[in-house]
Amino acid sequence: MTHLTIRTPDDWHLHLRDGAMLRAVLPWTAAHFARAIIMPNLVPPVVTGADAAAYRDRILAALPEGADFTPLMTLYLTEDTDADDVAAAHASNLIRAVKLYPAGATTNSASGVADFTRVQGVLERMADIGLPLCVHGEVTEPAVDIFDREAVFIDRVLDPLRRRVPGLKVVMEHITTSQGVDYVTAHGSDLAATITTHHLVINRNHILAGGIRPHYYCLPVAKREQHRLALRAAATSGDARFFLGTDSAPHTDPAKLQPCGCAGCFTAPNTMPILAHVFEQEGALHTLEAFASLNGPAFYGLEPNSGTLTLAKGAPDLPAHIDTKDGPVTLFDPGFTPEWHVTARSSC
Ligand code: DOR
Ligand code: ZN
Repeated sequence: MTHLTIRTPDDWHLHLRDGAMLRAVLPWTAAHFARAIIMPNLVPPVVTGADAAAYRDRILAALPEGADFTPLMTLYLTEDTDADDVAAAHASNLIRAVKLYPAGATTNSASGVADFTRVQGVLERMADIGLPLCVHGEVTEPAVDIFDREAVFIDRVLDPLRRRVPGLKVVMEHITTSQGVDYVTAHGSDLAATITTHHLVINRNHILAGGIRPHYYCLPVAKREQHRLALRAAATSGDARFFLGTDSAPHTDPAKLQPCGCAGCFTAPNTMPILAHVFEQEGALHTLEAFASLNGPAFYGLEPNSGTLTLAKGAPDLPAHIDTKDGPVTLFDPGFTPEWHVTARSSC
């Protein structure tokens, strides 16, 4: 096989940031993806419908001329979130999801949720109106080992939450463990998970063995090899509950390369070449379209895109870094040269 044409993909978990960084990274996503779920962890976070409308307008203003890209906005759940504001933003199709960050779990999560009783009413309202909750699934207790935080979150937080709010649609964002895969497959169609590009490629040795590699540090942190293999099996399975959320999370090199470096891998430019490579390695090129282009819209109740993206055999021609007015941002290095590149995108 030398060419592959799939429906235009969407990215169901993306950090675009704001200002100069937004203008630098957005064209890379808009080149390959028709839509993306936009993470709300700005400083300050996107917490109200008015915040989301203003951020959407800044994204649209930063789009290159003629780009075909729709940002799907989210709200950042806080203990003070107003259920009526959420419902109004949903009713006008301004937002497609609400994002739960446990307080302190990751970048800009200080305004997240610590006391879940405070958000019960909002979650019940979301269940009523069919608005999905996107979950950063890690506990934050210092006593819990960082490599166990996802599995512990499922048992201690996610499962009880789903029992307290029956019918709530939940996306476990960027799962990194076999426990995450198993929890999704054991439940029904109101539970799904996104899987990132980088978690299909790296395990924790890539970060730590033979020298520390800050560009592979993200949250949730990559786990053991057995977990990476479980993620690859889930992503390539065709199961409609697993779909692409790159979690492409740009930070400048100075922000990554310091004594306390930021978490995040920047994968927007090379996700599609890497995915085609990985899916071919797994003998599963035929399920790439489901993972990248069909399963996500089905979960979110949207039509798949009508356009197409074509990939062809041959290495992509991509820079190692992109320049932004804030400083250089390093692309995720998969450790191999992808054997596929994007040749064309058509919008029908
Ligand atoms: O690696 C990550 N980076 N994980 C997150 O949850 C947040 C993200 C960011 O915003 O940089
Ligand atoms: Zn993220």
